[in-house]
Amino acid sequence: MINRLRACRSDELREGAYLKLEVIFSGEPASLILVRFQERCFAYLNRCVHMARPLDGEEDAILDHTGKYLRCSMHGIVFDPVTGESMSTLCRGERLTAVKVSENDGAIWIKDRRIGERPV
Ligand code: FES
Repeated sequence: MINRLRACRSDELREGAYLKLEVIFSGEPASLILVRFQERCFAYLNRCVHMARPLDGEEDAILDHTGKYLRCSMHGIVFDPVTGESMSTLCRGERLTAVKVSENDGAIWIKDRRIGERPV
């Protein structure tokens, strides 16, 4: 495990935009989503709580039309971008798997003990 991984430059993640990152997470290949919301960065495993599907599997978008919630494109569950908690009746209270992230030195860093090297 490497604990810290440079995700991107700060200016590569605009407000409301998202990036995907392929990583090793808990020893397995996984996809993360990184989103900037209200000027802060959040990272989650790109896996819905409803079914093990990527949140952007059906659409190349991660926020809903209001820009206030993360939205799974498969069946439309919306999540609080800050906590990852489902705000929909379906899976209410369940949470996306949050990954620790920080922003400094002009870059966004994944800082999580479960992260390993990027797959080659
Ligand atoms: S798989 Fe995400 S809402 Fe159903």
